[in-house]
Amino acid sequence: MRNAPDLSFPRADLSRIPYGVYHDQETYEREQELIFRGPTWSYLGHEAELPNPGDFLTTYVGETPVILNRAQDGALHAFVNRCAHRGSVVRREVRGNARTHTCIYHQWSYNQAGDLTGIPFRNGVKGKGGLATDFDTACHGLRKLKVQSLKGVVFGSFAETPEPLLDYLDAPVVAHLERLMHSPIRVLGYQRQFIRGNWKLYTDNLRDPYHGGLLHMFQIAFGIARLSNRGGAMMDRRHRHNISYTAEGTDSPDGAKAYEQTARGQAKHQLADHSLLDMRHEWKDGLTLTIMSIFPNVVFQQIRNSLAIRQIRPKGLDAFELHWTYYGYQNDDDEMTKLRLRQANFAGPAGLISMEDGEAIELVHRATARDREAHSIVEMGGRGPIHDQDHLVTDVPMRGFWTYYCELMGFTPGSNM
Ligand code: FES
Ligand SMILES: [Fe+2]
Repeated sequence: MRNAPDLSFPRADLSRIPYGVYHDQETYEREQELIFRGPTWSYLGHEAELPNPGDFLTTYVGETPVILNRAQDGALHAFVNRCAHRGSVVRREVRGNARTHTCIYHQWSYNQAGDLTGIPFRNGVKGKGGLATDFDTACHGLRKLKVQSLKGVVFGSFAETPEPLLDYLDAPVVAHLERLMHSPIRVLGYQRQFIRGNWKLYTDNLRDPYHGGLLHMFQIAFGIARLSNRGGAMMDRRHRHNISYTAEGTDSPDGAKAYEQTARGQAKHQLADHSLLDMRHEWKDGLTLTIMSIFPNVVFQQIRNSLAIRQIRPKGLDAFELHWTYYGYQNDDDEMTKLRLRQANFAGPAGLISMEDGEAIELVHRATARDREAHSIVEMGGRGPIHDQDHLVTDVPMRGFWTYYCELMGFTPGSNM
């Protein structure tokens, strides 16, 4: 694919991103095919949501509606939630338990693997109507995805022969998933957030630790995460994914001084109820905030004791939904569960540390719509080769995302220089 004239990535190191890539309809359509239905693995859900045979949930891969289903034999299946007959959504529920899925339109039905098993009036009435005798139901099931899970986290891929999941995720991501999913989890609840911006403005936001200690006043003011803390960013070998991490309480004196020179340094906020800041140290590595972004559609959040999985669901070129799954561990005591639920106020649609992300994304989306040839500057942490960062004043992981994005989309960065 040739770069559209206003969609050039002028630098090979991806330190310039053209605003047009957030606003071009054709690019968006291609993303659905080349990324979400391409060779990637997308997050579908967590096994803890489907403990029993017959449990199902409805989810999305890109804009494609998908059903994730546990069959009677315990196996997980995923298939497109679009009837093979005339294209209706088959399951409208968020979740449920069933042996079959029956489309409301003409009641064609499918089993727990997505195979077509029932067609009303297939042979017509009194020899009239119905389908031709050579209609083969085996050829008309729901389109299936490959499914694999790791530590209970379920991924799906549209590719016929996708890269093995462990290779796709690579060692740092696998290790971090094992860290987060160290024992069986319990889902505590869900939230949804609708953001009027292109979905990639969010994947940028996630790979930009720099904003975390500047935009999010609450975490700066109460010491939850500051750019002057011990922290950094770890990536897989191809820099597709990223884990940003912070250990709070590790501020250096020169860090405090640097904050005094910013607009954030003068804030004197207080909390009426300090219980919001209660925390239990859970991990030996001392990390109190980790944000792991897995290409293309999922984020694993640990903010103090608040744990959540955020799924990105694009809703057209100009909007996306964030679907938040909050969880704890089955062996948490009641106090810990209460602590996690209280800290759920940190992130979510009205989260004290996350509502600004939605606002910032909408501001960027609106302001860039008419300047497609202009570019953002992605140089925090340096230009040139992409590598792990041992500080937070960086947006280098963003360039990792864009490297793989360009590879999948057929863009050749630097070719227009
Ligand atoms: S569209 Fe589903 S049965 Fe007709
Ligand atoms: Fe943020």
